[in-house]
Amino acid sequence: MTDENHHKYHIPVLLDQVIDLVKPQPGDSVLDLTAGYGGHSQAIRAKTKQGPICLVDRDQMAISQLQSLFTDKKAEIIHSDFLSASKSLISQGNSYDIILADLGLSSVHLNNANRGFSINQDGPLDMRMNSSQSLSASQVVNQYTAEQLETILLEYGEERRAKSIVKNVIDNRPITSTAQLAEVVKKSFPKHQKIHPATKTFQAIRIEVNDELQQLKQALPIWIKLLRPGGRLAVISFHSLEDRIVKQLFNELSKNKYEAELEVITKNPVVADQNELVFNPRARSAKLRVAVKIKKERGTHAYSG
Ligand SMILES: C[S@@+](CC[C@H](N)C(=O)[O-])C[C@H]1O[C@@H](n2cnc3c(N)ncnc32)[C@H](O)[C@@H]1O
Repeated sequence: MTDENHHKYHIPVLLDQVIDLVKPQPGDSVLDLTAGYGGHSQAIRAKTKQGPICLVDRDQMAISQLQSLFTDKKAEIIHSDFLSASKSLISQGNSYDIILADLGLSSVHLNNANRGFSINQDGPLDMRMNSSQSLSASQVVNQYTAEQLETILLEYGEERRAKSIVKNVIDNRPITSTAQLAEVVKKSFPKHQKIHPATKTFQAIRIEVNDELQQLKQALPIWIKLLRPGGRLAVISFHSLEDRIVKQLFNELSKNKYEAELEVITKNPVVADQNELVFNPRARSAKLRVAVKIKKERGTHAYSG
């Protein structure tokens, strides 16, 4: 597979469930904050019958693909992290009927060894979703103090062996490749683990490099402001740290019956069924939560589930 072909291998997760729950209507305006390779957006747009759409991604390869897929005047494409984009959209007074965030990495990131996200293929210690930002995994691994590394592994990886891993990392510096990092982390584990022993370490470093949790924590309340009354917000997360942030804010804004801003329409998060997992194993850890913004003036919302 050549680098140019990697984009062909991103399959949108929970696509039917997203469509069922956000119920796109002709003319609806859409904001896709993690538009990636356009899978969700194209399906939603087919239902909004070419209504206005704003597509955001921080990855240049994704942006190039979106530019070739969405060429009409009602499609706006923004190359930015979603926190900056959300701040700018709200300052322009924009609002949307449907907002979608399908968090984390695309298959393109994972399949392309040169991006440094994959544990199973050797590549540089990179892990930047936006290749023009300066902080990369190499700096985190080779320049952070032991205390900083341990905090990251504990908080972003929930890695119980953080202390031992950090000691091995520091003893083996400089570490220059993903394969070398994976081998160094392995030393802290007994042989024969079910999942790769470096899984949590890679997750933690990636979250740090891309500031993923702060992005979500700060952007989520802005997304709710960007929703029109009756508008639907769908968030797909891939690990419990992200899902917790979404669940907590949704609960907080929906709990008080009379003052609630949101109605959460996914009592439990929606997950992929066996059929989907067969052709898209990446959907294994996906969790979808959807909320509807309540129409304050009438105390009702537009959703007719
Ligand atoms: C799981 S993929 C989305 C795939 C997309 N839904 C599709 O159907 O093709 C996540 C995308 O979000 C982007 N991304 C992740 N975090 C981001 C952030 N904080 N700001 C902007 N884009 C982000 C990644 O670059 C990646 O392209």
